[in-house]
Amino acid sequence: MSNYRFPEGFLWGGAIAANQAEGAYQEGGKGLTTVDLLPSGPQRMSIMLGGLESFRPSGEFLYPSHEAVDFYHRYPEDIALFAEMGFKALRVSISWARIFPHGDDAQPNEQGLQFYDRLFDELLKHGIQPVVTLAHFDVPVHLAEAFGSWRDRRLAGFFEKYAVTVFTRYKDKVKYWMTFNEINMLLHLPFVGAGLVFREGEDKQQIMYQAAHHQLVASALAVQACHRIIPDALIGCMLAAGSAYPYTCNPEDVFHGMVKDRESYFFIDVQSRGEYPGYAKRFFRDHGITVAMEPGDAGLLMKHTVDYIGFSYYASRTTSADPEISRKMTSGNVFGSIQNPYLSKSEWGWTIDPLGFRITANQLYDRYQKPLFVVENGLGAVDEMGPEGEIADDYRIDYLKKHIAAMGEALEDGVDIIGYTSWGPLDLVSASTGEMKKRYGYIHVDKDNEGKGTLKRTRKKSFYWYKKVIESGGLDLD
Ligand code: BG6
Repeated sequence: MSNYRFPEGFLWGGAIAANQAEGAYQEGGKGLTTVDLLPSGPQRMSIMLGGLESFRPSGEFLYPSHEAVDFYHRYPEDIALFAEMGFKALRVSISWARIFPHGDDAQPNEQGLQFYDRLFDELLKHGIQPVVTLAHFDVPVHLAEAFGSWRDRRLAGFFEKYAVTVFTRYKDKVKYWMTFNEINMLLHLPFVGAGLVFREGEDKQQIMYQAAHHQLVASALAVQACHRIIPDALIGCMLAAGSAYPYTCNPEDVFHGMVKDRESYFFIDVQSRGEYPGYAKRFFRDHGITVAMEPGDAGLLMKHTVDYIGFSYYASRTTSADPEISRKMTSGNVFGSIQNPYLSKSEWGWTIDPLGFRITANQLYDRYQKPLFVVENGLGAVDEMGPEGEIADDYRIDYLKKHIAAMGEALEDGVDIIGYTSWGPLDLVSASTGEMKKRYGYIHVDKDNEGKGTLKRTRKKSFYWYKKVIESGGLDLD
């Protein structure tokens, strides 16, 4: 038994996203979104990077989000399983294109609104709080095609209308909101983070930071609207976190690590502290980047800052100023990292670093002094089913146990953490690779990388383990 003091009302649960779980990509009046056009296979990465246009599905490819794991139809069964584990919260995202199929429609799509009514009602029936992300990597395709997506300022207005629509509709059902999932992903996978596709010869950095400004303005507009429409709700930002370690104590490496961290902190500094930090202004000057802003923007950003800091943590990163050493890369939530000689890694090359979780949580709290919400954490692994249909995912239990313990330590350090929703409690489509084989779940879904399978749900060993963790309020981690 641990003696961690998880606070009363701590939001234990799991996190999924519309495009990776729902499927039904053309049902209920839904429009196409950018993530619907990410195929599995070798072209996926070029599209995610914004290097290859993909605005129409092609018969040549398999698009894993089209069916995903059919959460759209099976949510009552799935939610019953989450309830059985004792979930207090489920993080989901609303698919923007279910509500506004083209993004700029005059009226919202009533069928889409009704779907989320049913989903939230089902959660509340089981005493599970919905935690809702407004944009989890999806932009209605029409906005990407006709406006160039977030490079165009008008996106902020469309997003505000969408946010106001869902706040108004769900104000009595949803009390935890989040603006953009992993907002810093924009700089790493511009099509995924912001629907950006680059044309030949364009200055990518200039476009990305302009798009980032528009998302930051949209975030402030959403915060403003949320506070006005649902005064008793909390609305947060969401960072793909994981501190950057210097490879050596050479100050050049330490400085390099700081710069890498600031690439990500930049977004949260604006969303939480309300203004562009000095280091960002210098970066823009040094790189000839001019971010067009409107006169009211500074005031808007300053006034409408987030209530909490949501973040995902999978791995730490190791960086070096030395280009030779930087060649020894491994992966990690698409952020490159040098292989850390002290740490092991997952089958997909993601560093496993539970202490890094405690370090990251402490650093975020020191920096922002606002409640933290861990809205993603977990291990993507291959699971084998035994002859009786059992799945003994001890490696996942081991990963989660150590990370929950690290979170317990962070609480002891005085960090204010309001909840923990581990990623993919139900196996779902991998965002980076489009695979089904990369599983995070407590619940197995019978589907393979080729899209074949019965979609049957099966409890894994980790299901019973997590149930016990929640039941004991984080005391029983064994
Ligand atoms: C985060 C995303 O980047 O990590 C999720 O918010 C994603 O959408 C998760 O699924 C895990 O990454 P992957 O690539 O293993 O699915």
